[in-house]
Amino acid sequence: MLPELSNPSVCMRDPQRVQEILESMQKAGSNTLQVISDFDMTLTRFAYNGKRCPTCHNILDNSKLISNDCKEKLKNLLDTYYPIEIDSTRSVDEKLPLMVEWWTRAHDLLVEQRIKKDLLATAVRESEAMLRDGYQLFFDHLYEHSIPLLIFSAGIGDILEEVIRQAGVFHPNVKVFSNYMDFDESGVLKAFKGELIHIYNKREGALLNTGHFQELRTRPNVLLLGDSLGDLTMADGVQDIENILKIGFLNDKVEERKQSYMDSYDIVLLKDETLEVSNAIMLYLT
Ligand code: TMP
Ligand code: MG
Repeated sequence: MLPELSNPSVCMRDPQRVQEILESMQKAGSNTLQVISDFDMTLTRFAYNGKRCPTCHNILDNSKLISNDCKEKLKNLLDTYYPIEIDSTRSVDEKLPLMVEWWTRAHDLLVEQRIKKDLLATAVRESEAMLRDGYQLFFDHLYEHSIPLLIFSAGIGDILEEVIRQAGVFHPNVKVFSNYMDFDESGVLKAFKGELIHIYNKREGALLNTGHFQELRTRPNVLLLGDSLGDLTMADGVQDIENILKIGFLNDKVEERKQSYMDSYDIVLLKDETLEVSNAIMLYLT
């Protein structure tokens, strides 16, 4: 057993099963591996020094690109819908339409702000976005071993790309599925492109991108990282999966949600702000 799996933040429903999956994936070799990860609150930190860190949306919400009046409206949306997102007493069916409503209302507000494309990099630079400790090793090692990393995010693609670009880890092995901004000819945000991705339709998002998974068909072993139960479907487009190891970050409302996370993720990390466990697994598999 990897020593990191004894860290106090680690919980496993079935440690023996985790061991078996790890051994099977290790035996298959790193050329059969692909990594699929959520972005917000999975690759980025949930909190730093007791203060919440921003999601992609929050990076914009808190920036100079948004008027005070609009900031207030976005904050109201967050205060209304985030508690629903993490409410363990409501079913996905109950939450789904409300999440669509959140994303739709937030995107409509952002579009009204006539955000300029060339100011996004500054907004990210001035933000408090933080990748989790260990991100450099995570991204660099996957790149050096030619392992594809799919970042599958219900956040904003333009923003998350900028976060990893500024961190120096947007390597060529990284592919992003997310909500991308559509700008007019003068570089002003006019809409979001394509089908909306929210936290509960990643399965549909995956199935729209069969080409990507087709290209990776020689890699039937998947390491999946997420922080929401919606992230569990990110690998639904992978063809003929052999093994999948699911690592879930449980950042908030830990006691209420622990059982449901333990039931669906192989490894649950309780309030763990680092990529230490994921990196140990990645190093073992490569
Ligand atoms: P993820 O799929 O990369 O984790 O991104 C989804 C997160 O974005 C989810 O946890 C909720 C968050 N979010 C905001 O913080 N503000 C918003 O306005 C919206 C629509 C989502
Ligand atoms: Mg997330």
